[in-house]
Amino acid sequence: MENQNLQALVADAEESLRKVSTQSQWEQVKARFLGPNGGLTHFAKGIASIPKEDKPAFGKSLNLAKGKIEALFQNSLSKLQELEDLKSLGNQVDPTLPSVPSYTGGLHPLTKTKRRILSIFRRIGFTVTEASEVETEWFCFDALNTPDDHPARDEQDTLFFPRESKWANVKQKKQEPYLLRTHTSSVQIRTMLREKPPLRVIAPGRCFRRDTVDATHSANFHQIEGLFVDHSVTVRDLKGVLDFFLRELFGEKVDTRLRPSFFPFTEPSFEVDLKIPDLGKLSNKWIEIMGCGMVDPKVLGLVNIDPKEWTGFAFGMGIERVTMLLHGIDDIRHFYQNDQRFLSQFSSQV
Ligand code: PHE
Repeated sequence: MENQNLQALVADAEESLRKVSTQSQWEQVKARFLGPNGGLTHFAKGIASIPKEDKPAFGKSLNLAKGKIEALFQNSLSKLQELEDLKSLGNQVDPTLPSVPSYTGGLHPLTKTKRRILSIFRRIGFTVTEASEVETEWFCFDALNTPDDHPARDEQDTLFFPRESKWANVKQKKQEPYLLRTHTSSVQIRTMLREKPPLRVIAPGRCFRRDTVDATHSANFHQIEGLFVDHSVTVRDLKGVLDFFLRELFGEKVDTRLRPSFFPFTEPSFEVDLKIPDLGKLSNKWIEIMGCGMVDPKVLGLVNIDPKEWTGFAFGMGIERVTMLLHGIDDIRHFYQNDQRFLSQFSSQV
């Protein structure tokens, strides 16, 4: 009889605790079962009226029920405290939900163009490589067959470091001065000295020239260099690769042409022009997009590649220029001013 009543008491405690949602409610319920006037105490007092021989069994059941009830209360309290803690952390979050794009920002338009260009060349077997923005005169000019009196070497055009400065991690050829690279063509040299042909590399990077800033010039800009060296490479390979690239980037409607030009490190050299039917003010006009040519045998010789066995082509383009054409941007300075009104126009585009 007592046993059944005790079991009912435990069940009652369990049921009552289920409805508890605050600590003060918990205290009240606890008093009802475990307090001095509570149900359990009431039972315990009943021991006096029980026959002597039943007392041990009764005591045992009582202790068992007490243990169960205490455990129920302890459990319920921990749960309540856990809830309190969660509440103090604010709204519940689901870490598996995708993040909201407006909080994560967007990539800079120049970064987007760079990635698009690299991915096109990766698809046709080019590997991405990089070298440092600090260069030396030999890698930037001499090794690229640029004569001593070439205007690019002038202090008016190139940012040289003071004679006494040292860059331990930029390898010099002799003791030549350091400078900020004026083009990414120096990466051609570093690559050919490090790796043996066949070579297919694409090298994005920041360049510096001592330009006064206007709508189309910036002292700091970005280029992407390409280099392809293999057996029997010809101008046809150069044209084929660049046509493929430009169609992928600007669409099937693009028309291209190679126009003879001059660079000290390529022979023959060309400018690549393109013409697009729907390009706003520039529609159907030939627009210069990059420089290119067959790697000059002298350059191959300077990096210990036998020009009788290997031939190659190289090309270089400005990332700013490509981006301006792709999006009809008319002022290079927009790229560097961090104006949200400009940047946010690109945030949803790939
Ligand atoms: N380095 C040249 C420039 O900055 C571009 C170029 C790269 C030309 C490779 C030919 C070959 O204008």
